[in-house]
Amino acid sequence: MSKVHVFDHPLIQHKLSIMRKTETGPKEFRELLEEISMLMVYEVTRDLPTEEVEIETPICRTKVKMLAGKKLGIVPILRAGLGMVDGISNMIPACRIGHIGLYRDPETLEPVEYYCKLPHDAQDRELLVLDPMLATGGSASDAITLIKKRGCTHIRLVNLIAAPEGIARVQKDHPDVDIYVAGLDDHLNDHGYIVPGLGDAGDRLFGTK
Ligand code: PRP
Ligand code: URA
Repeated sequence: MSKVHVFDHPLIQHKLSIMRKTETGPKEFRELLEEISMLMVYEVTRDLPTEEVEIETPICRTKVKMLAGKKLGIVPILRAGLGMVDGISNMIPACRIGHIGLYRDPETLEPVEYYCKLPHDAQDRELLVLDPMLATGGSASDAITLIKKRGCTHIRLVNLIAAPEGIARVQKDHPDVDIYVAGLDDHLNDHGYIVPGLGDAGDRLFGTK
């Protein structure tokens, strides 16, 4: 069974609370999502392997630690996952970025795929799948399935807010994928929205409603 990591850091919780407020506009919403993503990636990458390398400082030769192991990739789920890209890629400048286009059909709540472009060496990378909202879990689960079909095996899911239903779906479909969330909410309403949640993340991010 995959692990669920819920971040209780006061800075993350404070910023998330501002994002939830109805009166928070797109500019502030975008800035906060970028900041929270930057803070989250610190913990998401905590167990990455390092290796000792020898370098020369202006004073002497010394052994230091540097990242080792698989290179990283990030895969935002369009649209709302785009809001997490800058915060994370600022911290991991060498990461490659893939994109998966999925939208949730408002009637059936089933995800509909419209785009997929991954780095050519995605199967050799540790991939972070990004989406602010994990509601039914259908979009995240389908995105991970698509990525696995391309031969990728090292995948982590990073969400801002998750519903228990979404967590259960991803854990059932992808027990090998750990999930990292800033907020674990209560339930889904009849329209598949997370309660209390923050509404439609894509619309709030891009000001489309
Ligand atoms: C939202 C969100 C997730 C999905 C979550 O995207 O960003 O991708 O819904 O719902 P699920 O867990 O029930 O699948 P949406 O379909 O609104 O598309 P958008 O990002 O283009 O607005
Ligand atoms: N997608 C969103 O953007 N918000 C929700 O609450 C559920 C799905």
